Amino acid sequence: MFSHEQKMGNMRFGPFKLASCAVLAPMAGITDPGMRRLAMRFGAGIAVAEMAGARFLIEAERGAMQRMQRVGFPHVVQIAGRDPDALAQAARIAEDAGADAIDINMGCPAQRVVGGGMAGAALMTEPALAAELVRAVVAAVSRPVSVKMRLGWDDSLRNAPEIARIAEGEGAAWLTVHGRTRQQFYKGSADWAAIRAVREAVQLPLIANGDCSSAADARAMLAQSGADAVMIGRAAVGRPWLVGEIGAALEGRAAPVLSPHDKFVAARAHYETLLDLFGVAQGVRHARKHLAAYVQEAAHEGAGLNDAGRARLVTTLEPREALDLLEAAFLGPACDGVAA
Ligand SMILES: Cc1cc2nc3c(=O)[nH]c(=O)nc-3n(C[C@H](O)[C@H](O)[C@H](O)COP(=O)(O)O)c2cc1C
Repeated sequence: MFSHEQKMGNMRFGPFKLASCAVLAPMAGITDPGMRRLAMRFGAGIAVAEMAGARFLIEAERGAMQRMQRVGFPHVVQIAGRDPDALAQAARIAEDAGADAIDINMGCPAQRVVGGGMAGAALMTEPALAAELVRAVVAAVSRPVSVKMRLGWDDSLRNAPEIARIAEGEGAAWLTVHGRTRQQFYKGSADWAAIRAVREAVQLPLIANGDCSSAADARAMLAQSGADAVMIGRAAVGRPWLVGEIGAALEGRAAPVLSPHDKFVAARAHYETLLDLFGVAQGVRHARKHLAAYVQEAAHEGAGLNDAGRARLVTTLEPREALDLLEAAFLGPACDGVAA
């Protein structure tokens, strides 16, 4: 557990010294290397790579390997599965590919993960298996191993403190808790105060997660949960700099104020990373959700695109046109699609 002073500008997390105590959440299909790289560049302490199923890593599935690309230090890769041997093998693959730490997913609520695979949050219903998985991964790699979980499966099984104690006992280096049960999916509000039961159960560094979108949220989240750091997911889509901004605010530092031009340059770098990584045909499609989110951010700045421009942005297959629209969204005129 960290003292308030330790958090101030000198954030140690397990063996790592982090740029800040705000980290980017793993989000499958969203937190690609482009988004993670920006989050790290703008001061996130960690940008966890999206979940990679053990099977995909073992089969060296191209997309899984691309998505877990290293973008900064520390490079944290999240793996998912329920077979201890397979998870251990996947962890070794991630370590060999450059991971500085391995995170085990025990929080994913998706039916395809908890149903067919009985992994993700379903593992919280099987504490003995959860223990076996952490043990297997800790034994398999020389890097720190962390666990990301929810408050429990449902209201009748809010056993995050039990799973936390198990993870601590098996050698986990830190924990992340999303303040919802699996049955809640993303409904209602995250219960930050409920995370405190985990704080009281273990000594490990603890990251609180769920519905944090501002420095005020982050302060309240830390105060209510007793956690050492905050994790930000959905609020950072279209504004990956938010994580570093919140981290700076928590430490009493002033984050650089980004102009619309700065934001455009960052969004363009993200787009270009995606084209480089996935190729143009797949990259333009993958990028669409990000472009739509960046335009929403530009609209908050008073610019943005009109309906026709937004529709074009998320359908064009032409990178040049997409970049022109993106530029117009942040920097205004010289384009038909710009909001009046
Ligand atoms: C589209 C999407 C994909 C997600 N993928 C993952 C994932 O791969 N691994 C994981 O641990 N959590 C995943 N999550 C959960 C987030 O990491 C986070 O716990 C959740 O969104 C709550 O945080 P937020 O309110 O800041 O978004 C995902 C969430 C979303 C919305």
